[in-house]
Amino acid sequence: MLCLGIETSCDETALALVRDGKLVASVLASQADTHSLFGGVVPELASREHYRYIGPLYDMLLAQNGIDQRAVELIAVTRGPGLLGCILVGLAFAKGLALGVNIPLVGVNHLHAHLLAAGLERPLAFPALGLLVSGGHTHLYHMHSHTKFTLLGRTLDDAAGEACDKFAKMLGLPYPGGAMVDKLSQGAAIHAKLFPRPYTNNESLDFSYSGLKTAAATYLAKHPELVEAGHAVRQHGLEAASVGLREVCASYLHAVADTLRLKTEKALNLWQGDVPQSLVVAGGVAANSHVRTMLAQTATRHGIELVLPSLKLCTDNAAMIAYSGECLYKSGRRHDLRLSAIPRGKNIPDDYLQVIG
Ligand code: KG4
Ligand code: ZN
Repeated sequence: MLCLGIETSCDETALALVRDGKLVASVLASQADTHSLFGGVVPELASREHYRYIGPLYDMLLAQNGIDQRAVELIAVTRGPGLLGCILVGLAFAKGLALGVNIPLVGVNHLHAHLLAAGLERPLAFPALGLLVSGGHTHLYHMHSHTKFTLLGRTLDDAAGEACDKFAKMLGLPYPGGAMVDKLSQGAAIHAKLFPRPYTNNESLDFSYSGLKTAAATYLAKHPELVEAGHAVRQHGLEAASVGLREVCASYLHAVADTLRLKTEKALNLWQGDVPQSLVVAGGVAANSHVRTMLAQTATRHGIELVLPSLKLCTDNAAMIAYSGECLYKSGRRHDLRLSAIPRGKNIPDDYLQVIG
């Protein structure tokens, strides 16, 4: 089956073709540079950019790969969660195509798709514990299968990626600064007690990152030389970083990753049902070196496999949407033209048509 995936939930316009679980081709237009000027994603600008690029990207994807649009057998589109105006651009395009070329349509949960992304590269074994860490979400899931997920915990305030980006912003680094903080931290000494692990001394599987952000702001207010060093990096590049700046980045990311580790271990200890086969970590923050190392140790300690998508599949992409859509369709699920867009903060309904089993 040849499936077209469409992703427009935030600031990447992405389309991909997946055939029977394997990536055929993909195209992506990132808006990161546009939003960087404003220090964060501007929803109206993002919708306009999606609207501008989606048609040309679609034509390019088909032309570059010599594929006729009538060969596409399924359209999978992100229906949420995300920025409403952005999702609507993708949905309108997907529905027009479904109607015009008479292709079945399925709406995909962007968060589930992130956790399934590694399935494009290797078989996934279930049940699995899924940790989704991105710019907007920090969610723990019991993954029963490719199509059935139970939410175990989520952030009560900031997401892990947001915590990294806000820290970068405090240092004067460009948005989104998570990856740059990671680069700065490479090889630097970690002061493990410098920052707290808020909301970890309890039985909850929910996360809270706002206390860590406040602790960092308080620390940086007392150490203006670190903020000056951050501004120097913005102007002159990574080589301009002081040892102090590198160490505070390493210590902060250590605290972010350690919080994820503590909750992941709690989820494994409280696990109910069949023994988990693996720990799946996905989303933009799964690219973080501290997160990868620490969760690899957790998986080893619990004798389960760590499943991480390759770096290009960690951040937003349409291959994961196509893959997830294919799994849904093969299990008998699809939508019609009434498919609705679900903005961030709202639950995604289980409103598939023709659900089997
Ligand atoms: O999944 P994603 O591409 O977009 C969504 O939020 O859905 O994740 C983007 C987030 C941003 O907050 C970005 O700063 C963060 O992932 N990120 C990182 C790293 N690479 C991306 N955070 C820390 N370390 C990294 N290496
Ligand atoms: Zn995402």
